[in-house]
Amino acid sequence: MTATTTTTRKVLLSGSRPTGRQHLGNYVGALAQWLELQDECECFFMIADWHALTNAYNDTSALPENIKNQVMDWLAVGLDPKKATIFVQSAVKEHAELALLLGMFTPLGLAERCTSWKDLVIEQGIEEMRTYGFLGYPVLQSADILIYRAEIVPVGKDQVEHIEKAVDIAEKVNSRYGEVFTIPKWRLSKSPVLLGNDGRKMSKSWNNTIQLSDSSDAMWEKMRVMVTDPARVRKTDPGDPEKCSVWAYHKVFTPAARHEEIVANCTSAGWGCMQCKKVLFEAVDGHFAPARERRADLEARPDAWKEIIFEGNRAARARARETMTVVREKLHLYQSNGWD
Ligand code: TRP
Ligand code: SF4
Repeated sequence: MTATTTTTRKVLLSGSRPTGRQHLGNYVGALAQWLELQDECECFFMIADWHALTNAYNDTSALPENIKNQVMDWLAVGLDPKKATIFVQSAVKEHAELALLLGMFTPLGLAERCTSWKDLVIEQGIEEMRTYGFLGYPVLQSADILIYRAEIVPVGKDQVEHIEKAVDIAEKVNSRYGEVFTIPKWRLSKSPVLLGNDGRKMSKSWNNTIQLSDSSDAMWEKMRVMVTDPARVRKTDPGDPEKCSVWAYHKVFTPAARHEEIVANCTSAGWGCMQCKKVLFEAVDGHFAPARERRADLEARPDAWKEIIFEGNRAARARARETMTVVREKLHLYQSNGWD
């Protein structure tokens, strides 16, 4: 095959565990970046369902529902199967083969030097989590990245340590067997952190999230009760936007031209928090109007998402297989078509 223009685009992989319905935190922290990147890079976006098992192996019954909802939300906000490959990790079995091989090169200390392992297993002593699979979390994640020869891996801060491990393992293999793997680089999302509407960390389990699939009314009901600067007890008390999570949302969703007005009205008690939230609601609601349309469209064709994933799995598998052929060859492993 001759070189085409597509070969100049950088290969990018990112993914997340199937937690189900996505919220504004997922959007701002990951999806919004992915939407931009799908125009620049050759993107692979993965639902990491095997990774979901590492801490929830006792009950997997919600997986199918969570995968579907996550894919629907990704597509609704505009991840575009014409531009990017959207797929499910467990549909590409080669990840498991590569994870097994990478495990041979992974010192136990490297696997143990993992924040979640140290926290859950060492500090908290949760015996259920002291498993081979959970210890292998970063090894499987390294396989996810290296198998696509990804050059860029956009992630949140908490994931950087995993990408660094992928680099360490890849370099170790390359130093012994030649250029087997492409060395990936992590890229931090520059997004601010949004808090839940109760002022705590946004978390599905705390029920304090605004979901991308919420109706306009549901979004407003959640915004209405958002915790604001505690100094604003009465409408006449001036506030400080920096102490208010509504302002953090404004910075993301409300056009910059209105920011000055918002700050002025807050610090001078020119308006009440409810009015401020109305402005925010309108911005957010408008921002997600196209997503609502795409979602309605997808829901009218119940098999559409399955076909998209089916096609994504196929494309991902093709690339993963290319890598594995090289890996097996360089590592002198058995080739199913026999050795030369
Ligand atoms: N560990 C990531 C998370 O919990 C998900 C993930 C799995 C991932 N494999 C990956 C992210 C590879 C980036 C690259 O969100
Ligand atoms: Fe927050 Fe707006 Fe109220 Fe100020 S006016 S405290 S920014 S909600």
